[in-house]
Amino acid sequence: MSQASNTTPRPLSASKNASGQWQVGGCDLEQLAERFGTPLYVLDRSSLERACQDYLAGLSDYPGPKEVFFASKALPVVAIDRLLHEMDLGIEASSGGELFVAITAGVPGSRIQFNGNNKSLQELKEALDHGVGRFLVDGMGELTALSELSKSYSFKPSVTLRVNPGIDAHTHDFIRTGQVDSKFGFSDDQLEEAFGFLANKDCPLDYRGLQGHIGSQIFEVEPFRLLAAFLFDKLQAAAGFGLETEELNLGGGLGISYLCEDNPPPIQAFVRKIASFVVEEAKNRALPLPRLVLEPGRSIVGTAGFTLYRVGNEKKVPGIRRYLMVDGGMPDNPRPITYGAQYLADLVSPRERGLDTERVTIAGKCCESGDILIEDAGLEACKDDLLIVWATGAYCFAMSSNYNRLPRPAMVLLENGRAELIRRRETYDDLVRAEVGI
Ligand code: LLP
Repeated sequence: MSQASNTTPRPLSASKNASGQWQVGGCDLEQLAERFGTPLYVLDRSSLERACQDYLAGLSDYPGPKEVFFASKALPVVAIDRLLHEMDLGIEASSGGELFVAITAGVPGSRIQFNGNNKSLQELKEALDHGVGRFLVDGMGELTALSELSKSYSFKPSVTLRVNPGIDAHTHDFIRTGQVDSKFGFSDDQLEEAFGFLANKDCPLDYRGLQGHIGSQIFEVEPFRLLAAFLFDKLQAAAGFGLETEELNLGGGLGISYLCEDNPPPIQAFVRKIASFVVEEAKNRALPLPRLVLEPGRSIVGTAGFTLYRVGNEKKVPGIRRYLMVDGGMPDNPRPITYGAQYLADLVSPRERGLDTERVTIAGKCCESGDILIEDAGLEACKDDLLIVWATGAYCFAMSSNYNRLPRPAMVLLENGRAELIRRRETYDDLVRAEVGI
């Protein structure tokens, strides 16, 4: 297998054909837009598969047991959970809904981790009914609730405690999770209480390990060294309660390229480095190697995905900018308005037309001034052009809405010149399906 994983914003199979048109997965994107309409979420299967292989290959030298779970919050779609499970990844679900998607995809409970900082009793029951293999428990309230509930089941649920490592990864405030002031995970004093609870011989829960997730869209590996050391400290604290920590879960967080100048580490190299931190810590402390678990989301699906839009109206603000409006926007990609996220765009069929490329702004169609997808896209674009916004595979459909009552786009998976529809376009009927008395 080649070492080259994707560190660009475009999918691995993206290339320009002889006439200079972009194609992906051997598919003609103009034909795709014709057939499925726009906006359209598109995924390149070869990129998804490569990302999974890279994670597994990166872990292959780790001498202990290991496992990768896809953090399905990044792209919670049945066909995707199924494909990634077939690629030998487990699925991490963070709500009853994500759990339902994984179950619908046929993922067995033994390959599902259930995460979330405020799981309801109903959600916990749903997970127990499905024989979920691992509960990532976030606090004492959940620990006691799960323990109560599990008395009515014939098996002991396996519990991994999410700890708050107090590590500050440099990323956007909203997607940073490991710092001290965070709603996630056990803080130090609560952790002691949890260890005491789990060490009680009558406790109906099976203590398995510790998890820490320090944030998302991270390019540095150093915070993971601190995380590994922190988790080993806690593993030793657990041993003081007579608890054996079988598993350490270092969460997700590896970033991707959204722009050409972004420079994330390649998946395999990143994973090897993290695994080496764990090996080092175990060696320095003369401890056995734990099962090493990772739960990536964005780096599995992010650059495999892109969105096709059709350009509609145009507005020139003389001396300031030219707005090009597309047929989607913040409902299908809320990341620019939420995080100020930046994206790279290309025209499917770029042509020299002598158009001004200065200050071309790609705007969405919502009644909201902030509904801007890309400022200064630098494209020679005009009405009816087909536009690609790259790297929209993660947290775009996942966080999409029906704002202004826009039906969600369809989603297709490309492979070897074939396009498979994995989610149909929503209809107006879908928009009112949950309303009563109409
Ligand atoms: N594990 C846990 C416990 C998490 O909370 C997350 C993401 C992951 C794994 C996966 O992280 P990843 O590998 O995708 O970085 N909506 C934001 C991202 C929020 C991430 C939430 N947690 C965005 O669009 O940037």
